[in-house]
Amino acid sequence: MTTPARRKALVAAARAVRRRAHAPYSKFTVGAAVLDERGRAHVGCNVENASYGLTVCAERNAVAAAVAAGARRIRAVAVVTGARPPATPCGACRQVLAELGAPDTEVLLAGPTGAIETTTLGALLPRAFGFAKPAT
Ligand code: THU
Repeated sequence: MTTPARRKALVAAARAVRRRAHAPYSKFTVGAAVLDERGRAHVGCNVENASYGLTVCAERNAVAAAVAAGARRIRAVAVVTGARPPATPCGACRQVLAELGAPDTEVLLAGPTGAIETTTLGALLPRAFGFAKPAT
């Protein structure tokens, strides 16, 4: 279980990186921060492309940064947008978070200021796909 201080710091990191988002097309900026198994935070923002479909979400960029830094598990993720109520990760990002996360991985949702809403990856993506050996 993440401590309140860690939750606050993770949301602060997501708020900070959101300012670096490259979102000239949608103008919808997103910041994400993931907390790894060693207590380290890794951040990402959305990076849009003129070829719209090549856009990468903030959460997936945060996961990529985490893996590149050696992370193997995700204990919590903070997602910050300008939306009210706070936006939740898209379906694709839920599946990517599930790769290193678990049903009890905390998902912290927040706006630029104010309250933090807390849920879990298991609540957002029940029965996430996992690679299992096919039955013969
Ligand atoms: N976006 C994210 O970064 N994360 C999500 O979970 C949903 C959407 C971005 C993609 C695009 O740059 C913008 O928000 C609008 O869809």
